[in-house]
Amino acid sequence: MPKIKSLQAREILDSRGWPTLEAEVVLDNGLSARASVPGSYSIGDHEAFEFRDGDKKRYRGLGVLKSVAKIKEVIEPSIMGMSILQQSEIDKILIELDGTKNKSKLGANTTLVVSLACARAGALASKQELFAYLGETFSFGKPTIPTPVFNIFNGGRHADTNLDFEEFLIIPKKASASEMIRQGADIFHALGDELKQAGYDTDTGAEGGYAPDLDSSIEAIELILAATIRAGYNPGQDLWLGVDIGSSILFEESSKRYIFPLDNAYFTADNLIGLYDSWFKKYPIIYLEDGLAQDDWDKWRDLTTELGDKVMVVGDDLFATNSNRLRKGIQEKAANSLVIKPSQIGTLTETVECIKLADKHNYRVIISHRSGETNDSFIVDLAVATRADYLKAGSLSRGERVVKYNRLMEIDNIIYKK
Ligand code: PGA
Ligand code: ZN
Repeated sequence: MPKIKSLQAREILDSRGWPTLEAEVVLDNGLSARASVPGSYSIGDHEAFEFRDGDKKRYRGLGVLKSVAKIKEVIEPSIMGMSILQQSEIDKILIELDGTKNKSKLGANTTLVVSLACARAGALASKQELFAYLGETFSFGKPTIPTPVFNIFNGGRHADTNLDFEEFLIIPKKASASEMIRQGADIFHALGDELKQAGYDTDTGAEGGYAPDLDSSIEAIELILAATIRAGYNPGQDLWLGVDIGSSILFEESSKRYIFPLDNAYFTADNLIGLYDSWFKKYPIIYLEDGLAQDDWDKWRDLTTELGDKVMVVGDDLFATNSNRLRKGIQEKAANSLVIKPSQIGTLTETVECIKLADKHNYRVIISHRSGETNDSFIVDLAVATRADYLKAGSLSRGERVVKYNRLMEIDNIIYKK
C-alpha cells in the first residue's frame, strides 16, 4: 500500500488574482498528485472558516502563507506514513487537528486542499480515474453524468453590473455531456449576438457570463429566451431557465425586507414568494437558488410549500454544505434541493456525508464551483462519482470554467467508451 512520504503547499492565484492554496502529496512509491481550492466573493455566514493571513501588506490581507506553514508544520507530521488509500482516516485526522466546529483553527481552505490532493493521489496509486476511485471509496453506485447548469449572466457581487441577482442560468435537457455543452455554448453565443444587437456590453463577469447594465431583472430573462430561440431551441421543451438570487446580500435585517435596486423595488418575504410564483407562471424557470436569505427558515418553509412542486427550491447559503443545517432543513421542510461546495465545509468526507444525507431525503444535488476558481476540475469527478443531479461550473467562457466542462466531456467518453 503506497504511503504518504511528504506534503507540500503553495500560495497560488485564483481566477480573480487573489491568493489561494495548492497542495501536493508525494508518495513513497514516487507518485505525486496535487489539488487546489477556490475562493469566493460571497461567503455565506454559515460556511466553515476560510483562513487568510490578515497581513495587510500582502494581497490586502488575503495571503495564505500561514496556511502553507500549517500544512507543513501541523498536518504533514500527522499524516506522514499513512496509507494514501485511507481517505476517511486522513479526513478524520484533519477534522481532529482542527478540532473546532467551523474549522476556525486551521481553516477549511487549509484542510480541504490536503483532503483533495490525497484523494487524487489515492486515485493515481490505485490506477483509477478520480471519479471511479471516489465512487468506490465512498460507496456510491455506477457513476453518472450530471446535467450542467450554465451561468450566462453574472450579477450581484460577481460582476460590475447593475444586475441584482447573482446568476441567470440555463439548464439543458438530459443528453450526452458534449451535446448539453454544445447547446449551452450555442445559446451563450446567441446571447452575445442579442446583446450586441440591443447595444449592450458583452464583457463577462467572474464566472464567464455576460455582465451588461440592463433595465430590469426580467429583461435578462427575456434576453435569454430570445437567445434560446435565436440558437434554434425551444424554451420549456428542450431548455429551461434558473436564477440564483443570492438574496442574503439583498436582505435588510432591520426592515426584514428584500431590496432590489435595479428594479427599484422592495419586498417582504411573502411578497417575494408571490413575485417568484408569477415568474414561474410566465417563464420556463425550474430552478430558484437562494430565493430567500440564509436565516429566514420559516419563510423558506413557506417558499417550499408554495413553489416546491413547480420548481427546484435550492439552498446554497442556507445549508452551506453543512449536514447539521441540512438536517434542520429536512425537519422544517425547507428547500428541496441543495448546492454542494466542498470549500464550504473543508473535507471530502464531510462533503460526501452531506450529499448522502441529501440523497436519502430526496433533495436534488447541485455540485458547484466558486466565484474565484482555479484550473482544478476535482468537483466534476466528484459530481460524477456521487451521482449528483447537476453540475454548476459557470459560463461557457474563461479557462477555469470551461476546464470543468471539458473534463465532463472527457469523463463521458471514458464511461461510455466513445
Ligand atoms: P460564490 O458563488 O462562489 O461567490 O459563493 C457561487 C454561487 O453562489 O453559486
Ligand atoms: Zn449560490
